[in-house]
Amino acid sequence: MISDQTLRSLLPRTLESTDLTIPGAERYVGKVRDNYTVGARRTIVVTDRISAFDVVLGTIPLKGQVLNRMAAWWFEETKRIAPNHLIDVPDPSVMVAIACAPLPVEMVMRAYLTGVTTTSVWHHYQRGVRTFCGHALPDGMKKNQALPAPILTPSTKAEKGGHDVSASREEILALCRESGSLDAATFDEAATMAQELFAFGQERALKRGLILVDTKYEFGRAPDGRILVIDEIHTPDSSRYWHADDFAARIAAGEEPRALDKEYVRRWYAAQGYTGEGPPPPLADEVRIEAAKRYIAACELITGREFIGDTEDPDARIRRNLGIEKR
Ligand SMILES: Nc1ncnc2c1ncn2[C@@H]1O[C@H](COP(=O)(O)OP(=O)(O)OP(=O)(O)O)[C@@H](O)[C@H]1O
Ligand SMILES: [Mg+2]
Repeated sequence: MISDQTLRSLLPRTLESTDLTIPGAERYVGKVRDNYTVGARRTIVVTDRISAFDVVLGTIPLKGQVLNRMAAWWFEETKRIAPNHLIDVPDPSVMVAIACAPLPVEMVMRAYLTGVTTTSVWHHYQRGVRTFCGHALPDGMKKNQALPAPILTPSTKAEKGGHDVSASREEILALCRESGSLDAATFDEAATMAQELFAFGQERALKRGLILVDTKYEFGRAPDGRILVIDEIHTPDSSRYWHADDFAARIAAGEEPRALDKEYVRRWYAAQGYTGEGPPPPLADEVRIEAAKRYIAACELITGREFIGDTEDPDARIRRNLGIEKR
């Protein structure tokens, strides 16, 4: 495991943004990824930015490398279940992918009654809601309890800065009918892949002592017409993971499960009284280090391999690995 000292030394030189000159590339800066698209090839730089509550909060040392490694690992593991966009990993922080036309929906799979944000199933359940995205929820359930079966709770893809809205299949299809952006057959094809990927992910995670609690998949239409899994898969940014060994005991004692994901940062913000409105308070250095350790631990547990982070200056390294001259 990388030492606290190394992580601390990386705090001032995380990968916060990129400005690569790739000839003919269209640049799109997301909350976490800087994307450069040339024709059917999308070069995705996974930066160290961390977002929660739909805002960028700051950077976490080595986070981009951890996420990229985990996504690449899961894409390889799951390619027989669902085809994905991965072409190559030319640098620890970069994935080259097939550029797709993204479907206007995020396929969220949930296996537990949990969450902290206003879009979570627990938030609604607590307020008396018993039908969530078309699924009936039994009365008398406790927070963090397993749902009778995993449920698909699709959500619309919000424009930059907006919040996603969860809805049932029928509602999503109705929303997309006007624009013609998503038909039922495409939705169902992606939904089936999401369900199969989630079942596989849960089984695989459990072998490593982890519960895959919930996750979000994105899909896109490739130039050859296939529907591919795009973006990231089963990373601690897109998924919630809990330790399995003490889960039951903690729930019985009325404690929160031990989480290995962004929940740690969300809870720190919640403790500061921040819930996503207005500018976020700056991330404390200790929190950035602790978050890095959790990301690394998640990566090592899942992949079963030690994570050896690359501590070279990321900008110079990425340019070299992508064959880009410094301007
Ligand atoms: N292969 C792909 N083809 C097309 N788009 C993709 C592909 N892989 C990922 N994307 C898109 O690229 C973006 C990745 O950047 P990032 O994850 O930082 O964005 P985000 O903040 O989650 O979303 P937003 O686009 O709302 O800013 C997402 O919009 C995602 O849908
Ligand atoms: Mg994203």
